[in-house]
Amino acid sequence: MEQLVKSTEENIQRAAEIIKKGGLVAFPTETVYGLGACALSKEAVVKIFEAKKRPHFDPLIVHIAHREEVDRICHDIPDQAWQLMESFWPGPLTLVLPKNETIPDIVTAGLDTVAVRMPAHPVALRLIECSGCPIAAPSANRFGHISPTQARDVLSDLGKAVDLILDGGRTVVGIESTVLLVTNQGINLLRPGGVSTEDIERKVGSIKIITHSQKILSPGATKIHYSPRVPLYIFNGSPQELERINEPHLVIMSPIPLSHQSMKVFPLSQDGNLSEIASHLFEEMRTLERMRVCAIIALPVEKKGLGRAIMDRLTRASA
Ligand code: TXA
Ligand code: MG
Repeated sequence: MEQLVKSTEENIQRAAEIIKKGGLVAFPTETVYGLGACALSKEAVVKIFEAKKRPHFDPLIVHIAHREEVDRICHDIPDQAWQLMESFWPGPLTLVLPKNETIPDIVTAGLDTVAVRMPAHPVALRLIECSGCPIAAPSANRFGHISPTQARDVLSDLGKAVDLILDGGRTVVGIESTVLLVTNQGINLLRPGGVSTEDIERKVGSIKIITHSQKILSPGATKIHYSPRVPLYIFNGSPQELERINEPHLVIMSPIPLSHQSMKVFPLSQDGNLSEIASHLFEEMRTLERMRVCAIIALPVEKKGLGRAIMDRLTRASA
């Protein structure tokens, strides 16, 4: 049987049977591809860590298809969490909340909180529904590599370790969800992502942004992450300084089109649109990696709106 298949209803049913039997299915979401297993089965979830070579201290996100399922997974849910679900679900927002016993410890790396999200993708939602259980899923890349935005990326990273890959084309958002820790004492941003902090603050007022030294709150937020297999440098100089660099074996990854005397330029958007830049970022990194360029010089964007998440990913890729 083929391993990478189109996301037809028939194939989603097949995938759901695999999940029910404790297997692994990679599926599209609006952010990146996920590597899913039944979140209620310890034996199934172990396979995710093995396939990704992911350390067990890094907890997973549990994906649900209906808001009522949150009550089965979490308890003592703050009012602000309900407000956030109302405003941003389904969508690229993950909420970390107090965990119920139904979720095995391996999913949350032993923490007493669990990360939950409802993805805005018909294939993901249908798969969760047909599987009859919440689905634990990290990004479907090998640990430390760039998150996959296409089905073929999953195949090249994980190969035979995954039972079935549902192909849903390119993901739209292109970077992972925003992760928030929501408590009655306030809201902490653990990972910037597909929903901007400005949009969140417009709904629930100001939130706390966790800096790197405090990142122990989010065990997965290690500094080196999302790395392409070629060196990436963020360029913080002036346009004149950039123009003076004469290194024809390097390439420039730029938010907008531009020309350079010696280096080839790969623009991520036509006009600096941040959604477009985010949606092309990981795909372009993988393309440049396949081209075996010597190094990538990435030009920064302003840390506003989605720019915060884009700079977070670029900074990690350059670590
Ligand atoms: O867009 C996404 O979020 C994708 C798609 C597949 O949904 N998933 C994803 O999962 O990016 P992953 O495992 O690559 O990232 C999950 C992040 C990690 O940084 C992890 O540390 C954090 O969420 N996380 C999960 N559970 C947590 C918890 N209980 N407390 C704090 N952080 C948690
Ligand atoms: Mg990941």
